[in-house]
Amino acid sequence: MTADWERTQLPDCTDKTILITGANSGLGFEATKAFAAHGATVVMACRSTERGKAAAEEIAETVGNTGATLNVHNCDLGSLDSIASFAADIKQAYASLDILCNNAGVMAIPRQETADGFEMQLGVNHLGHFALTGQLLELLLDSEGASRVVTHSSGAHEMGTVDFDDLHRERSYGKWEAYGQSKLANLLFAYELQRRLEEATITETISVACHPGYAATNLQYRGPEEAGSRVRLGLMKAANVLFAQSAEQGALPMLYAATAPDVAGGDYYGPGGLLNMRGLPEKQSSSEASYDEEDAQRLWEESEALTGVTYELA
Ligand SMILES: NC(=O)c1ccc[n+]([C@@H]2O[C@H](COP(=O)([O-])OP(=O)(O)OC[C@H]3O[C@@H](n4cnc5c(N)ncnc54)[C@H](OP(=O)(O)O)[C@@H]3O)[C@@H](O)[C@H]2O)c1
Repeated sequence: MTADWERTQLPDCTDKTILITGANSGLGFEATKAFAAHGATVVMACRSTERGKAAAEEIAETVGNTGATLNVHNCDLGSLDSIASFAADIKQAYASLDILCNNAGVMAIPRQETADGFEMQLGVNHLGHFALTGQLLELLLDSEGASRVVTHSSGAHEMGTVDFDDLHRERSYGKWEAYGQSKLANLLFAYELQRRLEEATITETISVACHPGYAATNLQYRGPEEAGSRVRLGLMKAANVLFAQSAEQGALPMLYAATAPDVAGGDYYGPGGLLNMRGLPEKQSSSEASYDEEDAQRLWEESEALTGVTYELA
């Protein structure tokens, strides 16, 4: 039962090493705070080390002495070189990982490309995490207990389609279409990873997915800021005040997916309240398209070809 689950039910994490991308802001910040409050070692993978360190200091001050360790590392998911060098550092520094939270993201921004020429939303939200997970897999498989890969999707995956003929949306770009594609890709990846783990008869490591509903974070502001639209920025700020739940509440499905004992590989968690936009975490189903095994396999092959990262699961 998840209906009465709250942050206070997070288990003791003192023996856990948890890596979370986008740990300096919004849901990643709140999840890091909750893990730290329960004594975890948290690797905070941040695009800006400065913002990461400021967040780590704030969290350390807030939670007090719980025995937690917060280690900030630079990782730009918009650069395969940055991801590779980050993954190499992590493999040097840690013998194993218990939880990987693929959390960082960008939403509805004007068309841009990553350092490797990928459309930015697909590049950061999906391809960056695909490359990162593949390179950290050995650490997750080396975890002494059970380990988990948790991938953050969104209700917006329901409006997404994966355009295999124009993955980078060079012919026609819509900021919401590109976001929807990237969030559908998150789910196709999470479920395909679980199928591949099962095929390799690996049961100690599972892949699960989650979404936060609608939570007030910086996510809603970057698009209007980069487009220079003060009107849209104002509307987003008003909507966040009027309709969004707090970032603290929005982080609960990710915390549940990462730690609750009844979570199984391939599960999807989101808030169970009004329109699945707010409330406490519950197990949910995602769109029919997200369970399409042919698309998942095709996306996996495209992602391997684009990133040059293959998964050693045999
Ligand atoms: N908030 C919602 O209502 C909502 C709804 C559905 C899904 N989600 C999902 O929740 C996840 C977290 O978003 P949030 O709401 O917490 O947004 P947020 O407050 O904007 O945080 C996003 C994080 O991602 C990081 N990031 C952006 N580009 C990156 C890059 N190139 N490399 C590495 N990190 C990068 C950001 O770093 P900087 O601070 O340096 O920019 C920030 O730490 C996202 O995957 C999002 O799609 C959120």
